[in-house]
Amino acid sequence: MNDMRYLTFALGKGRLADKTLALFEQIGITCEEMKDKKTRKLIFVNEALRFRFFLAKGPDVPTYVEYGAADIGIVGKDTILEEGRNIYEVLDLGFGKCRMCICGPTDAKDLLQHHELIRVATKYPHIAKDYFYNKKHQTVEIIKLNGSIELAPIVGLSEVICDIVETGSTLKENGLKVLEEVCPLSARMVVNQVSMKMENERITKLISDLKKVI
Ligand code: PRP
Repeated sequence: MNDMRYLTFALGKGRLADKTLALFEQIGITCEEMKDKKTRKLIFVNEALRFRFFLAKGPDVPTYVEYGAADIGIVGKDTILEEGRNIYEVLDLGFGKCRMCICGPTDAKDLLQHHELIRVATKYPHIAKDYFYNKKHQTVEIIKLNGSIELAPIVGLSEVICDIVETGSTLKENGLKVLEEVCPLSARMVVNQVSMKMENERITKLISDLKKVI
């Protein structure tokens, strides 16, 4: 009987999970039952490898990993920065590339240069706060929204937004521009701090196998 402990992976739902599974397949880690789009199952097992996978909302992935409910998580750098959990970030998976930016109408650029008190709408209040307070030393009012952030400067809720820009088409179609770049983003692998010690051999092998195909 195989009594090796399961290594549990938390994957951020959606595109990130699909790309992660495709990457894992390249290093021989498969999970057939997870490919069934109609399934209502929440947890999937590869018995031979003693790996378990589950899908979670992106912002919950670092939580599962910090508490050790998952040994490993795959999640965007934006979520890692926003959640600020005690976890190890061990690998840049190289996909899901985009940028966290301060955006707005062109004439809002001036407001970023003279330390004016402006309103910043965002789904990422911690990232926005860190950027304006610690990097730019500008006092701002942060307004938390849950999506369609580009609306905020258009309808007059805020002067600028702090949001993810991938292709730039959402900005373009709404007459907005990138005014400043906060940081580059991509999918990352994160590891629970205790798991990193207790399962070091398996996790180190996984990281080195992934590095060969990234
Ligand atoms: C994200 C982001 C931007 C858009 C950027 O939103 O918040 O709105 O994608 O992509 P683009 O530069 O390729 O246009 P998402 O689609 O995740 O939905 P949301 O508005 O609910 O956050």
